[in-house]
Amino acid sequence: MIKDTILDKESIPAHVAIVMDGNGRWAKKRGLPRVAGHNAGMMALKEIVKRSSVLGVKYLTVYAFSTENWKRPEDEVKGIFKLLIIYMQKELEELHANNVKVHILGDYRKLPKDAVDSLEYSLEKTKNNTGLHFNIALNYGGRDEILRSVRKIAGEVAAGAMAPEDITGEILGKYLYTAGMPDPDVIIRTSGEERLSNYLLWQSAYSELVFTDVLWPDFTPEEYERTLAVYQGRKRRYGGV
Ligand code: FPP
Repeated sequence: MIKDTILDKESIPAHVAIVMDGNGRWAKKRGLPRVAGHNAGMMALKEIVKRSSVLGVKYLTVYAFSTENWKRPEDEVKGIFKLLIIYMQKELEELHANNVKVHILGDYRKLPKDAVDSLEYSLEKTKNNTGLHFNIALNYGGRDEILRSVRKIAGEVAAGAMAPEDITGEILGKYLYTAGMPDPDVIIRTSGEERLSNYLLWQSAYSELVFTDVLWPDFTPEEYERTLAVYQGRKRRYGGV
C-alpha cells in the first residue's frame, strides 16, 4: 500500500477498467506517426500497472485492441502487435516480480503467431501469481463476448444439460472472459471521448464512468489518482436509494 496518496485508502476500487484512448491524437500533435503514439501509450501503461499494484487495486483491465480495430491501416495494426510483444518481453520479469497475474480477455488466438506465443508465455509464467490481476483486452468486443457466452449456453440447452428457465445472469457471467472476476467499479476513458465503444458491456451495468480530457500517453500515475478521486466522490446506489 502506498503511503502518500490523495485517495481514501479504505475505498480503493477492486476493479478498474480503462479505455486507453488518444494515442493517435497525441502523435499527430507532435507530427509523429500514429504508432509513435501507441509506443508512448505503452510507456504510460507500464506506470499505471505499477501504480495499480501499489494502490492495492485487485483487477486492472485495459482495452488494447478491439474487434473493430482490425479496420485500421495494416501498418498500424502490425505496429500495435509488435509493441505488445515488446511490452511483454520488456515487462514480464517485473510483472512477475511484482506478483502480477496476466489474463487476456478476447479471442487473442486470431493475433499473429509471434504475439500469441508471447502472450501464452506470459500467461503461463504468471499463472500462480496472487497480486494484481492484469487483464489485457485483445481482439475483444463486448457484444462478441456476450454472443459467445449465449452460444455456449444454447449448446448446453440443446444437449439437454440445462433448461432455458435455468439460465441466469450468474450463469451467463460464467461464460464471459471475466468469469470469476468482480465487475469493474469504475471505467475510465481518456482523451475526452465519452462512450464505451463495445467495452465490457455486460460487466459495466453498475460501473461508474469517469472521463478525462488527458490523452492516454499523458495519463500519469498522478492523473490516474485524480481520476480515481473522482470515482471516490461518487455515491453508488446500484438501483437503490
Ligand atoms: C486508442 O488510441 C489506442 C489503441 C487502439 C491501442 C492501445 C495500445 C496501447 C496503449 C499501446 C500498446 C500496448 C499494449 C500492451 C498493446 P487511438 O489510436 O484510437 O487514438 P486516437 O483516438 O487519438 O486516434
